[in-house]
Amino acid sequence: METRIITHDGQFHVTNGLVSHVIRILPGGEPNTIYFGPAIHDRDDFSDLQELAVRDTLQTDAGHPGLSLEQIRREYPQGGSSDLRPCALDVGDAAGSHAVKLAYDAYRIVSGKVPLDGLPSTFANGTGDDADCATLEIDLADASFGLRVTLSETMFDGLPVVARSVRVTNVSHLPQTVESAYSASLDLPDADWDMLTLTGAWAREAHVERTPLRTGLQGVSSIRGHSSQHANPYLALARPNADEMQGEAMAATLVYSGNFDASVFVDSYARTRLRIGINPEPFSWRLAPGETFQTPEAILAYSGAGFNGLSQALHALYRRNLIRRPWNACRSPIVVNTWEAVHMAMDETSLTAMARSAKELGMEMLVVDDGWFGHRDRADSSLGDWFADRRKFPNGLKPLADAVHRMGMGFGLWFEPEMISEDSDLYRTHPDWVLGDPRLPLHALGVQRCQYVLDMTRPDVVAYLRRTIGDVIGKAGVDYIKWDMNRSLSEAYSRALPPDRQGEVFHRYALGYYRLLHGLAARFPDLLIESCASGGARVDAGTLAYAPQAWISDDTDALERVKIQYGTSMMYPVGACSNHVSAVPNEETGRRLPLKMRGDVALFGTFGYELDPALLDDGECARISRQIDWSKRLGPLMRSGTFWRLRSPFAPRPGFDAADAAWMVVSADRRNAVVGWYRALTGVNAPVPWLRLAGLDADMRYAVTEVDTAVADAGDTAMAGRGFTPWRPRYGDELMHAGLPLTDRTTVTWGRDPFPGDGSSRLFILTAVDASL
Ligand code: GLA
Repeated sequence: METRIITHDGQFHVTNGLVSHVIRILPGGEPNTIYFGPAIHDRDDFSDLQELAVRDTLQTDAGHPGLSLEQIRREYPQGGSSDLRPCALDVGDAAGSHAVKLAYDAYRIVSGKVPLDGLPSTFANGTGDDADCATLEIDLADASFGLRVTLSETMFDGLPVVARSVRVTNVSHLPQTVESAYSASLDLPDADWDMLTLTGAWAREAHVERTPLRTGLQGVSSIRGHSSQHANPYLALARPNADEMQGEAMAATLVYSGNFDASVFVDSYARTRLRIGINPEPFSWRLAPGETFQTPEAILAYSGAGFNGLSQALHALYRRNLIRRPWNACRSPIVVNTWEAVHMAMDETSLTAMARSAKELGMEMLVVDDGWFGHRDRADSSLGDWFADRRKFPNGLKPLADAVHRMGMGFGLWFEPEMISEDSDLYRTHPDWVLGDPRLPLHALGVQRCQYVLDMTRPDVVAYLRRTIGDVIGKAGVDYIKWDMNRSLSEAYSRALPPDRQGEVFHRYALGYYRLLHGLAARFPDLLIESCASGGARVDAGTLAYAPQAWISDDTDALERVKIQYGTSMMYPVGACSNHVSAVPNEETGRRLPLKMRGDVALFGTFGYELDPALLDDGECARISRQIDWSKRLGPLMRSGTFWRLRSPFAPRPGFDAADAAWMVVSADRRNAVVGWYRALTGVNAPVPWLRLAGLDADMRYAVTEVDTAVADAGDTAMAGRGFTPWRPRYGDELMHAGLPLTDRTTVTWGRDPFPGDGSSRLFILTAVDASL
């Protein structure tokens, strides 16, 4: 059903047949959340869903006689009032007062979306009545304070999702200060929820944590200047009985890459307030008379079908309304990336040879990672000097790029645009471009990887980067860039901003980052951007709007990667996750996992390699070229299919030594699917893992074929040759309810069928068969 915004006297009901959001304006003008959840029938007056009883112990509000603001579900709670819970908006006026009392003023219904100034956001497909979403904007005002606030909410046709953002305008004659302005706040009537977050650290990103809500404040946040590996800007609430397949859950996430706060407050009456937005700590924003502050966009998703329902809603939204065309649907090139292969030891001759060997195996793009610029032999130099190192590339990058292009491959290049080394021409020319308090010696500025952060709040820095990086891309004919960011912001002081604007540094930095991304994307519309930040330190929807794929971790060990990909899929479409097969022993863990398993994990995403193909023996070359063919065959499905998590690597089960993991992708018409199953440790005389599938058509019959992707020929459409093991065809209902008994490699076979050992994988292809069984 299309999105409808139904208005009755002082009441707004936004619904698309999947979700409903009902707002009611209380007599004093306070916008009140009556309901947010699965779609409900409309009624002229939902006011009886509001708890209005005033408890003796609660204060009533000066602006709203007879009403306790602490008692009600508020649409956008302002602080400085009798609502003594953590609030969404805190603005101070020139006299130092924070007592804002916003009341309803006006509303607008817009077909499609209202773009956000300077910030990435979801977009509408189609215009006018054909737009695939509709927006309700509600203006609130406090005339005596001189403040106007616009709440914007877009609901998307066919998706249980809304996008929210807020504009705060100073309509007084004196300056004001925004101390906090969350993008969304959602008051819920009870606290029977578990909280799910994606936390971790470098090389172990996006681990799923689940904990019951308790009274008080809880959540995740970042003050690092980027979204971070430590916590993703994602927070889900799930009913205690909810799991991957069933139960009620909702998620909040942010189309933003800077400091964020995603938190939940449970009050003493077991009511829940969920807020997501820019982290108020450290933040403050001076608003001159007439100026507007635009918050980033928040996304709220609802699912009545567990976490798979939730992530499928987010994936669908991102593909349809966030990721740049054509990368939202088409397969990305299969890359060979030089980092784990050669690190910084590179030159034109060796890389030309690497590209040639990669091409022979079927790879499609050479990505020259760190080490090509300035005089970069170690991590302590040259960031900022984005010109080719003439010792390694005597005639610049163009001859290499041309040679690679002549081979029919794409040419990719690594940049770390926001960083600067002390040992760089850029630093020698512009020492003031470093972000940091000049009182502190340079080495005291939170050095990480011997590098400093450029002051991206400065328009001249952004313009310089756009020009120099753009020139390299243009001159060499670069098809792809890997945009890295390898340190957090600390001592974040801008010499270009006055003292009373230092609270703006982090957000202005994020705006500068987007300006640069926007400038490069506009100048090179076909440029494919892969985001990276020491792996997954900036995996967020804001970056996804410009960079259709992300290097989600530096950890390429397949067993670790299963966890990272599993967690990341809670919010990111798998096609947007870049996964590479690397050499063994693994650089991060020292493990030697089979090539088949390394490939079977990486295939669920955007595929590539992180090794030197010239060092492979003939057997490895043969297996890798098979794998590449599989990636080409399955790649479109990974970008367009529906992803289901079947078994969590974070949840060990009785009888098994370690959690096994499984997931699958099903095509939109449900005629094709691919299933991956991964085991960390071999069990001895272990239980049989029964793998129940999902998302299939119950009445459709499927041919089930186990594939050894390192042996089988992906071009063999009959799937009858070596490396294919056919199972008897079976109906979708049997596959979903009985499942596949994965017996053959788990029971004791006295050496007749040798165990694959620790770290193994199985991959199944399902194809609908129309012939009778
Ligand atoms: C970061 C990235 C790696 C690689 C190195 C290069 O760690 O995550 O993939 O690009 O930087 O220095």
